[in-house]
Amino acid sequence: MKLVHSPVELRALVAEWRRDRLKVSMVPTMGNLHAGHYSLVRGARERGDRVVASVFVNPTQFGPHEDFARYPRTLDADARGLAAQDCDVLFAPAVEAVYPFGTEAATRVEVVGVTETLEGAFRPGHFAGVATVVLRLLNLVQPDVALFGRKDYQQLLTIRRLVTDLCLPIEIVAAPTVREANGLAMSSRNQYLSADERDRAAQIYRTLQHMRDGVLRGDALEAIEAAAVAELDAAGFHTDYAAIRQATDLSASTPGQCDGLIALIATRLGSTRLIDNLAIDG
Ligand code: PAF
Repeated sequence: MKLVHSPVELRALVAEWRRDRLKVSMVPTMGNLHAGHYSLVRGARERGDRVVASVFVNPTQFGPHEDFARYPRTLDADARGLAAQDCDVLFAPAVEAVYPFGTEAATRVEVVGVTETLEGAFRPGHFAGVATVVLRLLNLVQPDVALFGRKDYQQLLTIRRLVTDLCLPIEIVAAPTVREANGLAMSSRNQYLSADERDRAAQIYRTLQHMRDGVLRGDALEAIEAAAVAELDAAGFHTDYAAIRQATDLSASTPGQCDGLIALIATRLGSTRLIDNLAIDG
């Protein structure tokens, strides 16, 4: 596997692959890779002749009081893990390569329609930062296919809309959430949790399952959402939202609807904020 920092070098490699008519798949990440990322890389391997994984901790998607400074940076371990998954290139650009005019003066992309609610309401500017960097990374690498995890569901919808709306000729593939044995969704942020908190964090997935069961039983959605928050409160969480929405665009569901819904939770355990979701199909 090649470690590439320079966009010029990356472009030369990709141009060579294109001359050989090879299909390029990409997995954009912020590094600190875990089994969830590696399943994306395996999906990329299945879909492409060449696989590029990017590692870039994107400053513009973190709020002023979020964990940008302490976000774990583990490039050497990431490189070893990616090589073991038969990744072809690890692209790790510098901030100046991604934001040549600096982050303040960067051209920004605002995806409208799916970004205002839920995460967007609690993390103002987050999805503009995500869309801004993903467009840059896709333009730098120019893959045929890019893979994103379902765990960050609203991010996935945002990126799908970005790619469709801006006419990028790239297929976006959604990959299933990978979970710990206790149900906790894998996330780089799990390492902020103590051993005890990791055990307790399994409650999030249990609560999502209870929300799904409630919808399938025909319970009122407001009651299901309130019960979910109460359940998380009782387990020591501070919850930003526990919501049931349309899976297509996160708008409100219609009365009596069972199909095409999704339950989503964002909640805090100590100082760690965790998100997860579960699709509901009647
Ligand atoms: O999901 C992530 O790791 C990031 O939000 C992404 C898509 C790589 C953009 O920085």
